[in-house]
Amino acid sequence: MKIATVLGTRPEIIKMAPIIDEINKKKINQIIIHTGQHYDEEMSDNFFRDLEIPTPDYNIQVGSGTHGKQTGRMMEGIEEILLKETPDIVLVQGDTNAVLAGALVCGKLHIAVGHVEAGLRSFDMTMPEEINRRVADICSSIYFIPTENSAVNLLAEGFSRKNLIITGNTVVDACFRHLEIAKKRGFEEESLKQLDIDNMDNILILTMHRAENVDVKERVTNIIEALKELIDVNVIFPIHPRTKNMLEKFGLFEELNNLEHIHIIKPIGYLDFLLLTSKSTLILTDSGGLQEEAITMNVPALTLRYNTERPETVTAGGNILVGSNRKAILENVNKILNDKEFADKMKSATNPYGQGNAAKKIVEEIKEYYNNGILNITAPEEIMTSFTRKMTKITEDITVNEFESKENALIRMVFDGNKMTFPTNELNLNEMIISYDKFNN
Ligand code: UD1
Ligand code: UDP
Repeated sequence: MKIATVLGTRPEIIKMAPIIDEINKKKINQIIIHTGQHYDEEMSDNFFRDLEIPTPDYNIQVGSGTHGKQTGRMMEGIEEILLKETPDIVLVQGDTNAVLAGALVCGKLHIAVGHVEAGLRSFDMTMPEEINRRVADICSSIYFIPTENSAVNLLAEGFSRKNLIITGNTVVDACFRHLEIAKKRGFEEESLKQLDIDNMDNILILTMHRAENVDVKERVTNIIEALKELIDVNVIFPIHPRTKNMLEKFGLFEELNNLEHIHIIKPIGYLDFLLLTSKSTLILTDSGGLQEEAITMNVPALTLRYNTERPETVTAGGNILVGSNRKAILENVNKILNDKEFADKMKSATNPYGQGNAAKKIVEEIKEYYNNGILNITAPEEIMTSFTRKMTKITEDITVNEFESKENALIRMVFDGNKMTFPTNELNLNEMIISYDKFNN
């Protein structure tokens, strides 16, 4: 078996690292294709070093550019490599342009795609990431889904339950493993050593890079106005290159950089960043990965967005959406700083992203799919069977598997009387309402 991974940005390297590592441990043949979307050392190379994974076999070097140009160049490069390498499965992770390009190319080449972190939805089609993740899901064959909530999103869009696998998120694997290493090693980054983090009061970690925030002057100005007032905290801001460019363009960088309580530093390595985060009082971010890491490390998060594809963090109580609203940012930061009960409740939110064994589960599933021949995508050779879409209430003890074989059916949705739930093979359907496809042969 040969597994290819397509990645291109900082979070993809971090979240694919545990899987790449696991594939290596299992001695499975693998290739890594970097699209080159992120190219600065501190946005790419350093992560291969910190996470101890092999450097990419290919780098397409697409660099920065408009979405069309970037995605088009990626597709051309990925197609050429895949035609030569003929992997059995291609893994893509998350919602960047690499995911869109990788999944689209594979769809047309009839190569199986495993979408890691599938099923997330912000329901906000103005986000490029929402388009990317939806299209990638359409082109994928196996879905490695972090939570039941995201699996239900896919069911609601009509995906078959058969290839939806709830695994947890590999960010937990990365976080658990590397935080331990980071704690033993201490800070390596000079800028952090100089800040003397251990002797600072109230550390607030700030990251932001979302186009809908940093490319919009009014939004970024509102956020900065709030930051200016937060003089009781030390704001540590490893700045994303996109954000630095935009702040400079809007003429906002110097003023922010000159504030005594704001410490702008360049993006830092993963070990330093985890250690820094673990020592912080709160996180203010528009990052996807950081919303997950915050709840994994029991640090309260305020998210600088109006929606999130990670609503589990909000319902669990570890994350609050504050948009780019100055008042909401200030109110919530002050509450976390001054109301111990409020802060403790946020800190004790249950992590919905699993126990840190997602990568193991993912590689096991890939092996099983391969061994069962399910990764071979070929044109159908059986005449299509008609089916009827039905809905019913179950009033007997019967599992999903038993119902499907008895009725020659595929269960689509299950309502347990309270909410939609994911139909695992062994789920007892008694008293539940189900929708299903009944095959007419
Ligand atoms: C991309 C992803 C986003 C992800 C983020 C992670 C898409 C559509 N966006 O956004 O989902 O959350 O990565 O960080 O795929 N730049 C550099 N050096 C680099 C990389 C970028 O200077 O190494 C600058 C360039 O000016 C570039 C800008 O940052 O134009 C934006 O980079 P780009 O890769 O287009 O998008 P991100 O904002 O990084
Ligand atoms: N991160 C890092 N150094 C930094 C900032 C972030 O290692 O200076 C890590 C962080 O721990 C998280 C990931 O980068 O795992 C998030 O990346 P980003 O916010 O760029 O992308 P997103 O998750 O929003 O797609």
